Amino acid sequence: MKKFTVALTLVMALGGISMATQAVSDTGGMKSLRGAKALDEGTRAPTMHKFNKDEEPMKRSYVQQPPVIPHKVRGYKVDLNSNKCLSCHSWDNYKESGATKVSLTHFNTRDGHALADISPRRYFCMQCHVPQAVTEPLVENTYKNSAE
Ligand code: HEC
Ligand code: HEC
Repeated sequence: MKKFTVALTLVMALGGISMATQAVSDTGGMKSLRGAKALDEGTRAPTMHKFNKDEEPMKRSYVQQPPVIPHKVRGYKVDLNSNKCLSCHSWDNYKESGATKVSLTHFNTRDGHALADISPRRYFCMQCHVPQAVTEPLVENTYKNSAE
């Protein structure tokens, strides 16, 4: 009797697992950007894009856009002790490096108080500024530059 109960529990447990897997792999016809793959199926990581070589600053697409980064940023570290970006873009260093200085907005707290140094909310530059690579758009879109 005991053996039978164990076997029955096992069958029920296995049944449960297979039902769970079925639920996960059923995408219901939905297709995501990673293709028509079941959620629990692995995919290959996309190949890395080559970032553009250093170039002139690029046109902005709308007013208040954080300008995109027109140069490579590989190895540029931003952490508690140092900020590589500011070694060229800060008001102390921009003249020597020839970089655009960060604008005044970068000194403001979210309540609009101007600080003497970069505001913590603008410290991690790549939250907003990103380098560029030539790629195909992931989805078709009809976006038009609104700053022209
Ligand atoms: C070695 C110096 C140097 C470092 C380090 C550096 N930059 Fe630059 N950056 C420049 C120069 C030079 C330009 C181009 C200025 C020009 O040609 O007018 C530039 C341009 C830019 C621009 C475009 C400005 C505009 O008006 O369009 C952005 C944004 C920018 N950098 C962000 C960053 C970020 C973020 C980092 C850190 C990840 C960084 N930079 C690190 C030198 C540097
Ligand atoms: C929270 C978003 C955000 C972060 C973080 C941020 N920026 Fe910006 N940045 C902007 C926006 C938006 C603009 C354009 C409007 C403005 O000047 O505020 C800008 C403009 C700039 C410009 C062009 C200034 C000009 O006079 O045209 C430079 C250079 C720049 N940022 C560099 C940096 C650097 C370096 C850091 C890191 C220390 C940084 N930014 C962090 C949003 C951000």
